[in-house]
Amino acid sequence: SHAHAYRAAIIHTLEDPAKVGIDASYQYFEDGLLVVENGLIKAVGHAEALLSTLAADTPVTVYNNALITPGFIDTHIHYPQTGMIASYGEQLLDWLNNYTFPEEHKFADKSYADNVAEIFLTELLRNGTTTALVFGTVHPQSVDAFFEAAQSRNVRMIAGKVMMDRNAPDTLTDTPESSYQDSKNLIERWHGKGRLHYAVTPRFAPTSSDEQLTLAGKLLKEYPELYMHTHLSENKQEIEWVKALFPDQNGYLDVYDHFDLLGERSVFAHGVHLCDDECKRLAETDSALAFCPTSNLFLGSGLFDLAKTEQHNIKVGLGTDVGAGTSFSMLQTLNEAYKVMQLQGEKLNPFKSLYLATLGGARALKLEEKIGTLQPGTEADFVILDYHSTPLMTYRMKQATSLEERLFVLMTLGDDRAIKATYAMGKALHTRG
Ligand code: GUN
Ligand code: FE
Repeated sequence: SHAHAYRAAIIHTLEDPAKVGIDASYQYFEDGLLVVENGLIKAVGHAEALLSTLAADTPVTVYNNALITPGFIDTHIHYPQTGMIASYGEQLLDWLNNYTFPEEHKFADKSYADNVAEIFLTELLRNGTTTALVFGTVHPQSVDAFFEAAQSRNVRMIAGKVMMDRNAPDTLTDTPESSYQDSKNLIERWHGKGRLHYAVTPRFAPTSSDEQLTLAGKLLKEYPELYMHTHLSENKQEIEWVKALFPDQNGYLDVYDHFDLLGERSVFAHGVHLCDDECKRLAETDSALAFCPTSNLFLGSGLFDLAKTEQHNIKVGLGTDVGAGTSFSMLQTLNEAYKVMQLQGEKLNPFKSLYLATLGGARALKLEEKIGTLQPGTEADFVILDYHSTPLMTYRMKQATSLEERLFVLMTLGDDRAIKATYAMGKALHTRG
């Protein structure tokens, strides 16, 4: 066994601040020590107390002007949209037709997919994200490409093949039967292999027939611990379209409910325009929402009502939603989340932000026993944040004396430059040169 210790300020979340209050929501060590052994966290605490418990030859890496947090968890992102991030001028439905579908065509070519998967995972790690819930394209080889790249880095990732059998270009659609069989093959190949999990991934209600949604529900019953990943109530035109396509169902969420797609491993991206009944149903089924502020602003979709989800006790994680989202950085995503709340007359406390980017995401993915905190026994996925990442941040930090202020400045000014290093299973997968 080879232990390694990291000395710096350390923070991690213990509980949702909305449930226990800010002060009880986190644990902080000003001069902290994180001890890692065999890829897991062995101990976390005050450096002086812990150092004396270590074997004399244990290496200690000291990071100055730094803060250690759990690795970030991105609960909604599309790896095939890496190459079309920042596409100008459209809201959701035209954006899909004009930019997204043409790019997703390219993933019929496995070598194209391999290349993007590499770029994508490198970018996630450069931004401190160690786990993500990821859309592929309709092509099964897009998912092979992604999982192969994730497996070689030993990162905990969840992904799935898009199921899409209507209202998209013919060259990008599958059929109910082919989507079922292709998904099944991918599940057999990848689900539960190392740190990888499979998500049944109907794109969104408008691009799936009743038959396809029925088979998505069937897959979820046939294998244990599968995820379900889709989009929900993002854009007002989209919602009207769903109502027209599914006149027998009582609204957007009810379409998914009708096909048995809600549950403790179901993650719905957006949920910007939900009614009380839909919120109740999400909570009662233990389904989760992915809050994607940069995407919701970029596509002009609307403002996510985090306060309402708290009132209804719905699990919420944070998502970048690249390529509708405009940054891989979860720090920049929190910066925009704060502004989304401001526009609704609400404050997003930095400790709540930390929760959303770490433990909140882990809970949304039912992975809180493994990731999202620095509790001993969990996987050693963590990041080193740099308080001096730019001249401006260095200067601003001189006046930010409290932990709350320092966290807030990190989340507002910080981006990939603030990620000094990213570790997964105790291994440095990114170090900023
Ligand atoms: N709804 C259906 N597909 C998509 C997508 O690719 N991105 C976003 N933001 N919303 C969607
Ligand atoms: Fe999305």
